[in-house]
Amino acid sequence: MTDPLPNEEARLARLVRAHDRWRGREVFNLLASENAVSPTARKYLSSDLAGRYTLPLETNFHGETIDNSYTGTRYTDQIETLANAAAARVFRARFATTRPLSGHIAALSALVPLLPPKSRILAIAPDEGGYDGYAPGFIPSLFGYTVRPLPADGPGLSVIAEHAVETIRRERPNAVVLGQSFFLFPYPLREIAEAAHALDALVFYDASHVLGLIAGGEFQDPIREGADVVYGSTHKSFPGPQGGLLYTDREDLFAQLDPALVWRIFDNAHWNRIAGLGQTLLELERCGAEYARTVIANAQALGRSLTDLGVPLVAEELGFTRSHQIHLDRPRLEKTAGVRSGELARRLERQRLLIDLVGRIGTAEVTRLGLTPAEMPRMAELIVRAGLRSESVAKEVLAWRKTYRGLRFA
Ligand SMILES: Cc1ncc(COP(=O)(O)O)c(C=O)c1O
Repeated sequence: MTDPLPNEEARLARLVRAHDRWRGREVFNLLASENAVSPTARKYLSSDLAGRYTLPLETNFHGETIDNSYTGTRYTDQIETLANAAAARVFRARFATTRPLSGHIAALSALVPLLPPKSRILAIAPDEGGYDGYAPGFIPSLFGYTVRPLPADGPGLSVIAEHAVETIRRERPNAVVLGQSFFLFPYPLREIAEAAHALDALVFYDASHVLGLIAGGEFQDPIREGADVVYGSTHKSFPGPQGGLLYTDREDLFAQLDPALVWRIFDNAHWNRIAGLGQTLLELERCGAEYARTVIANAQALGRSLTDLGVPLVAEELGFTRSHQIHLDRPRLEKTAGVRSGELARRLERQRLLIDLVGRIGTAEVTRLGLTPAEMPRMAELIVRAGLRSESVAKEVLAWRKTYRGLRFA
């Protein structure tokens, strides 16, 4: 019998090549949770850093502070310092760390060191667009938190200041956790922070979806508007490698957060990712403002074009969105077009257009490819022909996709 390994290796190589071709060159990706990583950041991801350890400035189990447990780290430590400094500049924060391994881990990194067991938190419920991770059975059950819903009962699952403040005063939480997976509009953060701080509650802002927009000075500026700690994924509207980051202006909080990461929430922090993230932060420092403005303009233009063609979307009266997402109005879609969002997404996938099955459409990655509001009527027309009329548009999509080479803002 021949050794099966080489065949499996060849098959794996074919699968990775096929994936890269399909997702990198042959589809338009309108998934709100994803983005395209810059070529330089990708190079760093596969650099020698991918296999290295470093533990700068740690406290060992004897309680001694030492420079590093490892040798060979003369460059890794400088890479981390550079990336953290870039994050602090981009988000205009006094303290930032690029160590959290993902958005979810960033949430743990922020909440767990600052909120003891039995804390009461307010978070937006998943059925109002909140992140599932904050639902009672997930992060709260792991750490003994009680979670109560912060209402997102405005148009497009937005938060109404009066309702939020009322809820905070009634529930008297230890912390308010803002942030949504269905995230169209900025929060009335000043009002929320004022009500929370009056009760000595902390305000956490999970910026996973909108981090790239905040980096470009759009959407809102959580720290200046009253959030105590901001954190999130670095791969949704923020166009970095998959990972997380965290920042704050409060020295007292950062003094508790930073030492709680290593050996509590993770051990090594993936230094190739941190180099790629550092590169992305530097790229956004150069052209993040134009990137963020174009992402939002594209989302609004796509919303307008889709509704002009009869696709029902939420929050039309508010211009659809102020973020990188627009949302299908699922009940109206089913009623008027006789199709569920999941089936629509499957039809689009067969025609080389990717959206998620829960009705979100995102413009971050197509903006990186170079699409502008002028191209959104064409995108909307392809979505309608493929998704509502079940027409075959795959060849047209492929030919159009091939005209975009390389990435803008990178
Ligand atoms: C609001 C929010 N927070 C956290 C996460 C988790 O991010 P990650 O997948 O990077 O762990 C998500 C992912 O969708 C999210 O939408």
